[in-house]
Amino acid sequence: MTLNNNYSHILMPDFFVRKIEQYVSDFHLDFGCGNGWFTNYLASRYEDIRIIGYDIPESLDYAKRLFKKIGMPHTDSLTQLSSIAPFDSATLTFVLHETDDPVLERVHGLLREGSYVCILDYELRGKDEQEFRNLFTAELEQEEINRLGIDEAYRIHTSKGIDECVNLGESIGFKTLEKEVMLDKYYIWVGYKS
Ligand SMILES: C[S@@+](CC[C@H](N)C(=O)[O-])C[C@H]1O[C@@H](n2cnc3c(N)ncnc32)[C@H](O)[C@@H]1O
Repeated sequence: MTLNNNYSHILMPDFFVRKIEQYVSDFHLDFGCGNGWFTNYLASRYEDIRIIGYDIPESLDYAKRLFKKIGMPHTDSLTQLSSIAPFDSATLTFVLHETDDPVLERVHGLLREGSYVCILDYELRGKDEQEFRNLFTAELEQEEINRLGIDEAYRIHTSKGIDECVNLGESIGFKTLEKEVMLDKYYIWVGYKS
């Protein structure tokens, strides 16, 4: 991969990004890309990876405008994703905690053998409400509490953590390559599709 060091728009702590980047390969899927900042970041930093952002239609509006402007492939169609698969790697950043859909099963089906999936998400399971309030303090997290209300924000963000992720990934057929809890509230898990 060719590194472009000029790009500095990083919203995630740098060491998360460094970790995730190790697993990004030639044809990459950012599943649940949201507003597309991370998809855009990867594409801007690595000029010779092909990267596509996918999200459900109601979440892709903002990213669509950004992606169109910079000419980045994106889709809200699983059928289209299937038609261009297999991918060499995939990321799901802050997706798993907020959906009961079988997203990881879908990603498994879209990856080639020998590829990696990298999940970054919250490790807040088991925290009581006060601990949650003390940890969920970043600007975007505060906005989420304001938008959802504290009860719903607490429920969503404490319902799944790294153990659920590992169990799910391994039950689907991924091998755990790396797992780590970071800063007392995030985890990273890397699965290998053999
Ligand atoms: C908290 S946002 C994270 C967005 C982005 N990955 C990031 O790191 O900023 C969670 C995203 O997961 C997406 N999502 C939830 N369920 C999904 C599903 N079934 N298929 C695809 N994306 C989904 C949401 O639409 C939303 O954009």
